Formats: sequence, structure tokens, C-alpha cells
Amino acid sequence: MTDIELLKKAAEVAERSYSPYSRFRVGAVVITNDGSVATGANIENAAFGASICAEANAITNAVSAGATSIDTVAIVCLDGAPCTPCGNCRQIMREFGVDRIILRSEGGDPLVLSLEDLLPMSFGPEALP
Ligand code: THU
Repeated sequence: MTDIELLKKAAEVAERSYSPYSRFRVGAVVITNDGSVATGANIENAAFGASICAEANAITNAVSAGATSIDTVAIVCLDGAPCTPCGNCRQIMREFGVDRIILRSEGGDPLVLSLEDLLPMSFGPEALP
């Protein structure tokens, strides 16, 4: 899939967001190292801290389906300005080797970032004994 196709699919997934509290719909698509695709939308909760971001859901869906490494994550927010992933999701991406993050930009062209762009000097699994 092209970057534009990934963003389009992420926007479709965002339509299935459960976000009655923020009304901020987010969708994510991940491509694993073996080429499979997983998706996720943000799922909120009346206990706000129990809400789960779209990227986190997409990554846990991929890993639950057997992925051990993820190459790419595309993220689209339908409401407001283009959004970047939260700090917690950056760390989740770090765990599974994500190194291509595709976002919508104000100009409309896909914005492609590395994990190092988003989370410099990061901590990861190789640091543990
Ligand atoms: N959210 C995501 O799902 N991903 C992001 O990259 C940014 C924020 C969600 C969390 C919450 O449901 C809503 O957007 C507002 O923060």
C-alpha cells in the first residue's frame, strides 16, 4: 500500500473510534515486518485513564495476531489539526521496532517520520539484561 492509501485506510478506521468524551476520532494502520496489516481506533472509557489510543490498539492487534516486529504505522485524526502520537504510543512503537510513522500534514502530503525523530535517545528492550 502507498502512504496515501495507508492514510486513507487509517481515516476509515477512525470512523469506528469510540470517543464520546473527547470527540477526537483517531485511526491507525500498521504494517508488520512480514507484510501483514492490522488496524485500531481510539477506544475511550468513562474512567478516562482507561482509554486506549488508536496506535496502541493497532499495535496490540498486530502482535496478538503473531507479529514480532512492525515496520510502519500510519495515523489519522479526523477532528482538528493533524495529530502526532502521544509519548506512551511512541514508547510502544519503540518496543516493536517501528521506524516509519506516516502522518497527515497541514499541506495534505503525507509526513513521514522516523522513531528517532519522535523519541530521541529512547529506552528499548535491548537495554535489559
Ligand atoms: N489519541 C490517539 O488515539 N492517538 C493519538 O496519537 C493522539 C490521541 C486519542 C486518545 C483520546 O481518545 C483522544 O485521542 C484525545 O486525546
